Amino acid sequence: MRKLKFIDLFAGLGGFHLALHELGHSCVFASEINEDLRVLYKTNHGISCNGDINVVDVKKEIPKHDIICAGFPCQPFSKAGKQNGLEDENNGNFFDRIMEIANYHNPEYIYLKNVPNLESHDDGNTWQYIYNKLSIKYDVKKQILSPHKFGIPQHRSRIYIVCRLKKKGGLVDFKFPEGEFKGMLSIKSIIEKKPKEYTGIKPSSLNHIKVWQEFLSNLKSEEVPRFRWERFNHFYLCTMLKKKKEFSLQSLTQNTQYIIRKLAA
Ligand SMILES: C[S@@+](CC[C@H](N)C(=O)[O-])C[C@H]1O[C@@H](n2cnc3c(N)ncnc32)[C@H](O)[C@@H]1O
Repeated sequence: MRKLKFIDLFAGLGGFHLALHELGHSCVFASEINEDLRVLYKTNHGISCNGDINVVDVKKEIPKHDIICAGFPCQPFSKAGKQNGLEDENNGNFFDRIMEIANYHNPEYIYLKNVPNLESHDDGNTWQYIYNKLSIKYDVKKQILSPHKFGIPQHRSRIYIVCRLKKKGGLVDFKFPEGEFKGMLSIKSIIEKKPKEYTGIKPSSLNHIKVWQEFLSNLKSEEVPRFRWERFNHFYLCTMLKKKKEFSLQSLTQNTQYIIRKLAA
């Protein structure tokens, strides 16, 4: 197989990196704005990430490469967010930034990942905008996939967009894999029994988990709210309740009961 060079934009923990490295390809540039993730990326992959992609000099700082990988931030398109899409003042311009890099470097491949809602956001106009820009030079295919369909215990549907330069032959021979796994999966199957090195969950996050578990345990299953729960997330809820001065951060149990009473009212 041809050895290719890739760049990992919005690198996160380096999911794209892991997969491409295992296939023998090498990362020549990575960008991740979150400092903790940059430290983790260096530990996991031995590469120092650049920070904010918006301040990177596309011509001087990004080397020649064959593949752009970009799991660009999904908040503007996610059903859990405000859905401002490409107009989002913080995260809406990332697709254009990816195109700026692609148009300058002309990599043979572009791999993008986002939430499934990207396809239907703004009555399909967002996808149409993305498709129109990509398809000037690239053949484009997209598919919604989730790890649980491939035997991995996680429900995480995402839209994967694969592009190849038309002048290199496009995607005539490319087909997305069919995820056909239907068996039972358990999180236990992937958790190491006695890990030697690990970073523990922060005490504040453990507290959040504890409150949520307590909250859910207090509800009968049919009472678990069916509306878009993420939008009504605990940060929002805490802020709202704190403003009303009816919420104290000291007593988690009391707060949980308060929330349940509110929901039941
Ligand atoms: C959806 S996640 C990508 C996850 C990644 N594909 C992985 O495998 O872990 C988007 C990432 O973009 C990062 N990000 C957001 N704004 C950024 C910016 N201006 N420059 C670089 N990275 C940014 C976020 O911190 C987040 O880690």
